[in-house]
Parts: sequence; C-alpha cells; structure tokens
Amino acid sequence: MLDLLWPKSLLGLDIGSSSLKAVQLKELKAGFELELFDQLQIPPNLITDNTVADSQKLAESIKELIKKAKIKTKNVVISVSGHSSVIIKRITLPDMTEEVLNENIRYEAEQYVPFGIDDVNLDYQILGAAEEQGQIDVILVAVKKDVLNTYLSAVKEAGLNPVIVDVDAFTLENMYEANYQAEESKSIALLNIGASNTTINILKKGISAFTRDSSIGSKNHTEALMSEFSIPYEAAQQIKAGMTVSGITPEKAELVLTGVSEEIVMEINHSLEFFSDSPEMEPIEELMLGGGGALVKGFKEMLSERTGLPVTLLNPFKNIKIPKSFDAGYIESIAPIAAIAVGLALRRIGDR
Ligand SMILES: Nc1ncnc2c1ncn2[C@@H]1O[C@H](COP(=O)(O)OP(=O)(O)OP(=O)(O)O)[C@@H](O)[C@H]1O
Ligand SMILES: [Mg+2]
Repeated sequence: MLDLLWPKSLLGLDIGSSSLKAVQLKELKAGFELELFDQLQIPPNLITDNTVADSQKLAESIKELIKKAKIKTKNVVISVSGHSSVIIKRITLPDMTEEVLNENIRYEAEQYVPFGIDDVNLDYQILGAAEEQGQIDVILVAVKKDVLNTYLSAVKEAGLNPVIVDVDAFTLENMYEANYQAEESKSIALLNIGASNTTINILKKGISAFTRDSSIGSKNHTEALMSEFSIPYEAAQQIKAGMTVSGITPEKAELVLTGVSEEIVMEINHSLEFFSDSPEMEPIEELMLGGGGALVKGFKEMLSERTGLPVTLLNPFKNIKIPKSFDAGYIESIAPIAAIAVGLALRRIGDR
C-alpha cells in the first residue's frame, strides 16, 4: 500500500463546537509520548447542530491554532458526531467474505439508514461470528456527505490534509483501549460530554454493544447562565471555569448549573436504561466520563448518585508519557477534554 509514503504520526484534530483540540503522539518502542497538545476556543455558532455553519471562519480558527501550537504536520485525523448526521448500527448478516460484503453493503445498509443511500458515506467493520449459526455481526457507520463536507472543506481551507475521518463514539473507545485494561467480564459505559453533543458508547465485555449521540451538552449550562443572569457567553464560560463574575455569587451560579446537570443526567440515564431494557442487556458496572462537561462542578457526583454507579473521569494520558516540557498539572486538569483528540492521534493510516 501507499502507507509507507505517509509519515507515521498524524495530527489528531478534534473540532468541537466550543473549542479545537490538537494532539500529536510520538510512537516509542513501547507505548506513546505526547508530542503536542493545544486548545483554542472558537466563536460560538461557528458549528451548530454538529454541522459547520461557516467553513471559512472555522478555517481561520484552525489556522490560528496551527500558528499557536506550531503545528508542522499536514496530515490530520478528524471525527464527526451527532445523531442527525451519523448513524451507527450493529447488524447481523448471513456469513459472507469481506469481498462479498463489500459488494453488498450498500444494499444491506439501505434499510438501516434513514437518509438516501447516495447521500451518505458508508463504512463497516466485521465484528465476528454472531450468536446465531451462520451469521456475522457487523458494525455499520453512515455519515451524511453534506455534513462531512462542511468539516473537510474547513480543514482543507486551513491547509491541512484530512487522511482519516472517524466518529466520536469509536474514537472514545480507541482512546479507552490504549489507556485502560478492558475487563472482559465487565460492562462499562464511555461518556463524552461536549458543549453541544453527548456521546455514549457501552462496551460489553470490551466490545461496543450500543452507541448513542444526543444533542444535549454543557452548552446548556452556558445558555442557562447567560439567560438567568443576562450575561454574555464569555462571562458564563468564566463562571463555569470557577471564576467569579461581579454581581453573581457562586451559590446562585451553582443553583443554575445544578438544574441543568439534572437534565443532562436524566438524558444519560434514559439512554442507559434503554440499553438495559434491550435483549442483549447486561448490567453496566461503571461509567467513564470525558469531555469538558465532565468538569462542571458537581456533575460527576450527581451522575454517580442518580445512576447508582461509580463514575471515573477519563484520563486519555494515563498510558502516555508526558515529557518535562509540558506543564503536567495543566495536562492533568484538562485531561478529560482531550479524550477525543487523543483517540484521533492514536490512529495510523491503514490501521483497520
Ligand atoms: N474547567 C471547566 N469547568 C467547567 N466546564 C468546563 C471546563 N472546561 C470546559 N468546560 C465546558 O466544557 C464545554 C466544552 O467541552 P468540550 O471541549 O468537550 O466540547 P466541544 O468538543 O467543544 O463540543 P462538542 O464536541 O459538543 O461540539 C464547554 O461548554 C465549557 O464551558
Ligand atoms: Mg467534542
């Protein structure tokens, strides 16, 4: 293949609706070392409903990040998410070779994809033999072309070369596998709470059994603060980060944040219950939490209380060597936010 022509290390670029995150990892003899991490806030409304509303402006932000982080690599890995543009389905098909499946996948996918089959990019992965004899389990992924193109044009406009496009749910899983020993006997839920999207990936015995994206996220906290106290976006972000804004006591702010956290937790609980009610049910034993929303004061505790499950903050750098040139305290404090970006940076051309 052409793989050898590509440099091994790719830039993981997580294009979030509130911030861009860039991670690059150096492959060591055993494991990885952090080569680059940086973050840049982007103006609100550049990305709405998991679609780039203004590719030109987003490209400018990406260029700003390239400059700030001194990014030299051109080849990037990005991801998309969102229930209205990404469909992930686990399906069972008669046993067939990869070659035959490749020919038939469009036909098979048609019944599972609620959009025109010509309007999506399709991908799949054979998971292995299904429980029923002569059948195989396959994960099907469909991404709306027009939505994907809004991201690709911004990335290209910024002078980068997108070489892999992933989806958040699998990126999260990839990051998890690189850092945690997946316990074969245990079912856990990986959660990423971003600003406008919450991704859930439930792993049953280390294999993805259920994924869901919902359009609730920590932007709901931000908007509630803005409307309750009639303050601008930036001030609301500051309150969330623990700073005090004149005229607003921490107690008052906390009350608003708690109310929104309740809604998000309810939505998550709903998805977890939906999974528990399905035939392939398996009790979930632990929740692993990433994304900026995980850092909102009291959120983790509330999630644990309402679900009755232990909640652990995801540390995507757990197995990654951090050189002295990085501020280890800072990296530790923002670690859950980098969950997707690290998962992207772990990808290599032709790795699956
Ligand atoms: N230290 C913090 N304390 C509280 N909230 C935080 C903190 N850091 C970030 N956030 C919040 O987390 C959100 C951003 O999280 P993240 O970077 O995961 O989202 P995103 O990737 O930009 O969005 P999405 O993927 O949903 O489009 C923002 O709403 C921000 O206010
Ligand atoms: Mg995100």
